[in-house]
Amino acid sequence: MNGVDAVQRWLTGQRCSDDFPYRDVVASVREHGKHFVPPQMLEVLGQAREVANSVAGPDAGGRLLRSFLNVLLDKADGRYDYRTYLALELLPLPDADRGDIVVDAAAALRYRDRLVVALIADVLRFEHAAAEDRRQPLPELRPAPGLTRKRLRLGMRVLQPALARLGLEQACAVDDVRPDRLWRAVEDFLDQDERQAVALSMLPVSRVHDEYLFLRVLQSWEATFALVAVDLCGVIQLLGDGHAVHGGARLDAATGILREASPLFSLLATMQVAAFRDFRRWTEGASAIQSYSYKLVESLCRRPELARLHSVAFQSAPQARMRALSGQATVQSQVGKLERAGFAAVVEDQLVESMASFAAALTGWRRTHYSLAVRMLGNEAGTGYTSGTAYLKEVKDIPVFNRVPSTPSGARRDRR
Ligand code: HEM
Repeated sequence: MNGVDAVQRWLTGQRCSDDFPYRDVVASVREHGKHFVPPQMLEVLGQAREVANSVAGPDAGGRLLRSFLNVLLDKADGRYDYRTYLALELLPLPDADRGDIVVDAAAALRYRDRLVVALIADVLRFEHAAAEDRRQPLPELRPAPGLTRKRLRLGMRVLQPALARLGLEQACAVDDVRPDRLWRAVEDFLDQDERQAVALSMLPVSRVHDEYLFLRVLQSWEATFALVAVDLCGVIQLLGDGHAVHGGARLDAATGILREASPLFSLLATMQVAAFRDFRRWTEGASAIQSYSYKLVESLCRRPELARLHSVAFQSAPQARMRALSGQATVQSQVGKLERAGFAAVVEDQLVESMASFAAALTGWRRTHYSLAVRMLGNEAGTGYTSGTAYLKEVKDIPVFNRVPSTPSGARRDRR
């Protein structure tokens, strides 16, 4: 059934949140691209939103429906931004405000792994099915077969460590990638809410094939930065309790996951420049400069300079800015406290090297991101109202901490 008819039928029926025709609506959005959803569709979705507060069904179902409509009607409402573009409120991201996962590093990692495995396995399934000419959405600018094979290989590099940690390594061999089999194994492994999150969070603005990859890679980085933010909160708590050794180990874990995720950039580098330039015409106003998790990571390391806090960089992520301005504890401030309390030698032994490794990993991320942006964007302005790559050149070497050795002696092992 087409999306408009399906929503109309729901509106005139029992209006139970769990019966909302998500599948038809998502299919319809993917058929046109979110920027081009026909007016009749927007109208019935608007009607659904009007009744969404009083629908029958479980509370969680009502919340999901409201979030979904919030994400879907962003452009129509003039609220479109990075959060709604990536459908972040529909994704189960690790949450730095959840005390249980701040304390439990393994649980936090599991959250991130489950989500990244789901997102990347889904994009590999899509790439493979489109290459096989099976009916798939986003038919414009399909990649050549060689490029698809490269994507499948690079996608497996991203997945391998997380699959192994989740006990799913049997689902796929690096040298024999079978995306359908992999997806089935991952789908079986996920719970119903996670499957739903994957299905509802692919709402591209265009019909350009490569936008699928772009969205899934951005979402995977979001999940990774969200985990790093949780880890940094854990480090801050441990240092506050005087546990320098454990704090250093948790910081090493954050370094490990940042480094491990770097093949996500190699995967995204396979995006066709022409494809990116095509669909980005409809993404104005949605930029990762608005990423809460990234700015939270930056500001949990040390309090950013006032000039940065008052610049477009932090004004674009107001919640992270508020936290930083309200004087939240940071790794740097906790280290300072330890030093002032007479633990300078302990800090030197346990933490300085870990801080240097983390700083090198984050700076490495920024430099790779800068190179990728130059390749894709050239000298064009960004979608976050900056000068584009000139802005990135300026910010890529901002110090992560105030004081770390100038020549880091290399990364310690990931001690998670
Ligand atoms: C085609 C690939 C990409 C291009 C061309 C690109 C371009 C840009 C540009 C021009 C900016 C400056 C803000 C603006 O005006 O938009 C920016 C910022 C940013 N991008 Fe990307 N980006 C790409 C991929 C990614 C990916 C995969 C991530 C992962 C989440 C990411 C995360 C960020 C972050 C966190 C910022 C804010 C940096 C800061 O304020 O210090 N970008 N990007």
